[in-house]
Parts: sequence; C-alpha cells; structure tokens
Amino acid sequence: MTRPASAPWAPDTVVVAAGRPPHAVDQPVNPPIVLSSTFHSLGAPGAGEKVYGRFTNPTWDPLEETIATLEGCELPALAYASGMAAVAAALSLLPAGGTIVIPAHAYNGSLSLVTELQGTLGLEVRHVDLADTEAAVAAFAGADMAWLESPTNPMLEVADLPVLLAAARAAGVLSVVDNTFSTPLRQRPLAQGADVVVHSATKYMGGHSDVVLGAVVTGNPGLRNRLHTMRTLHGAIPGPFEAWLTLRGIRTMALRLDRAEANAMELAVRLSSHPAVSRVRYPGLPTDPGHERAAAQLDGFGAILCIEVEGGAAAADAMLARLELWTPATSLGGVESLAERRRRHQGEPGTVPENLVRLSVGIENIEDLHADLVAALGVGG
Ligand SMILES: Cc1ncc(COP(=O)(O)O)c(C=O)c1O
Repeated sequence: MTRPASAPWAPDTVVVAAGRPPHAVDQPVNPPIVLSSTFHSLGAPGAGEKVYGRFTNPTWDPLEETIATLEGCELPALAYASGMAAVAAALSLLPAGGTIVIPAHAYNGSLSLVTELQGTLGLEVRHVDLADTEAAVAAFAGADMAWLESPTNPMLEVADLPVLLAAARAAGVLSVVDNTFSTPLRQRPLAQGADVVVHSATKYMGGHSDVVLGAVVTGNPGLRNRLHTMRTLHGAIPGPFEAWLTLRGIRTMALRLDRAEANAMELAVRLSSHPAVSRVRYPGLPTDPGHERAAAQLDGFGAILCIEVEGGAAAADAMLARLELWTPATSLGGVESLAERRRRHQGEPGTVPENLVRLSVGIENIEDLHADLVAALGVGG
C-alpha cells in the first residue's frame, strides 16, 4: 500500500493517495474489490491467513488504513456494516452494570441504543449538556465511559474536547468520540486524548448517499483486539463493495467538505436575517454560543446548520414540502443538500425544538440553494 517515504502527507493528500497499491509496473492504480467469502487456507485460523470472509477481506485493508491515517492512528481502523454497528461495537466495551456519560443531544440512534442497553446491561446513564464543561467533568466521577460528540447532532453544541478528554483520562474513564460531523479533516480526537473514535462513514466519507458503513479507530492495541474479536463474532462486517465505494468517496472528501462548508457559512449568514427564521444554529457564526470554541478547536465549522422556522412544526413541514432543489430526507454528508425536521423521529430528545430543521448543505451552487430555501420559506428575504 502507498505510504509517504519521508515527510507525512497533509490530510488533503492522504484522502487521495493513501490506501493505493504499491508503485510497480502493472499494479492497478486503485485497490481491487475482492468478492470472495472464503480463501485458500491450510494453517490454523489466526496464524496470519485470511481464512474466511467474516474474519477479513483485502478490500477492507486500504479503507481501514486510510481512515486510520486520517485520524493520526498507527493501528488500522476497523470497518463495520454501518455507523450504528460501529457505535454498538464501541458501546460493547462497557461492563455490565457500568456507568456511561452521554450528551443529552447526541445522535438519536446512539441515545436509543444506550437506553436499550440500560435495561439489558443495567447501565447507569448520565445525560449531560456537553457545552457545560464543569457539569460534564463532574459527571465523569466513577463512570466507565464518556461518550462524546462535538458538534452535537442536531443542536450543534460545541464541547471543549481537549479539556473533557484530559479530564476523562485523569478520572480513568474510557473516552469515545463520534467524529462523524467534523470528519478527521476538521477534528482529530485521538491527538486530543480520546481512546476511541467512531464514524458513520455513510456521511462525509462515502459522500454520495449511496453506501452505509461505519468505522472505529483506536490506537490502543488491547482495545483494538477486543473490538476485532467482537466484530468477527458479531459479524457486523461491511460488504466488499461498500468498503470500496467508501474509499472512492474519501478521495474527494477534502474538496467536497471545503465547498459544502463555504456554502453552509454563506447560508447561515443569509438566513440569520430571514424573517421566517427565528434562529440559525451554526458554529461558524460569530454570534453562535459554540463559535469561540469551534474557532479554537476545529479546522473548519462543518457543513451542517440548523434553522428554526417561524410558526412551529407545521410551518417547518410546509416549508420542507415546498422545496424543489433540497431533498427532504434524513442523513447528511452527501454531495446533495438534504433538509429534515428532526423531531419527526420518535427517538429525538424532547429538548430539540419542534421547528428545528437540520440542513445538510451540499456542493450545489450557493445561489440555487439559497433561492430554493427562500422560496420554500415563503416570505421575502
Ligand atoms: C453522528 C452520527 N453517528 C452515527 C450515526 C449512525 O450511522 P449509520 O446511519 O451509518 O448507521 C449517524 C447517522 O445519522 C450520525 O449522524
């Protein structure tokens, strides 16, 4: 696999150049897809042979190496069948009867799974406002795991990640960061002291809303071995085609994110003065409560913004139904712009405003994106 011989590559080179076959005559430029459920094998399983398609697949290797390189991790990432499979794998590191600290506004799938596990594993669950560093640190006392997400989905609260990660380590609490929103191009939690990073690669890594895949990254060999064993036994593995598509998506992630982020910033500014929008949440806005932290900690403000539509849930739903360019759909991180009222999901916390519409800003022309939103909002601006 290609690696820099001398100086490390910049992240926007890594996305393009990592995980390719070696430079040698007749080698393909792209890693091949290996469609095989089993491999010629004579030795004892575990002795370095591939053996079986649930244990390994060569198509995973370049993807796992590229994600690890992006996250600044020496050990390969572990790819999973979905972001939730990756979340579940990280949560499986919790002991029965353990205590988890989790943001009140984390991704609702993660929150729902933790609630399920609360019953089956007898967990103590401590929900915190992650923007309130003091309260979050206080909640770490006696906990087993700190589940961190910043900016949070969908409220876009920004945590003081370096401080929280240092406090978790000092308290002996295993820290897990869901880095889906920021991507390793904007935030590298392992370098800030996180034990484990999880991703829904379905989002910015895949980037085209055509693949569902997840990843876990950890530089701790013991934790990685446990996760690897559990992935093999649980069977939450990605298909080779999904792994290949995700790496193909990663090739353009830096370009896509730059463009989507510029669009998001411009929309946040323009929508802030729109009469049908009562509030814009976007850490890039100087008036946003998370702005200072985000400016200090992130290499960019991301491409998700939320608006609160005047007139409540009904007005927000009517706005979504009038969109022509934006697609009313869940998910995020694709080239196409998506909009969704998050409270339509039962699992969404009740503290998320009913009229909050999450905008996953894509890479279309900014004027077209803006015009479509303005037309759908139905009031001049
Ligand atoms: C922050 C975050 N984490 C995890 C997930 C779950 O990922 P997947 O849908 O790939 O299972 C999502 C999905 O929306 C997400 O937004």
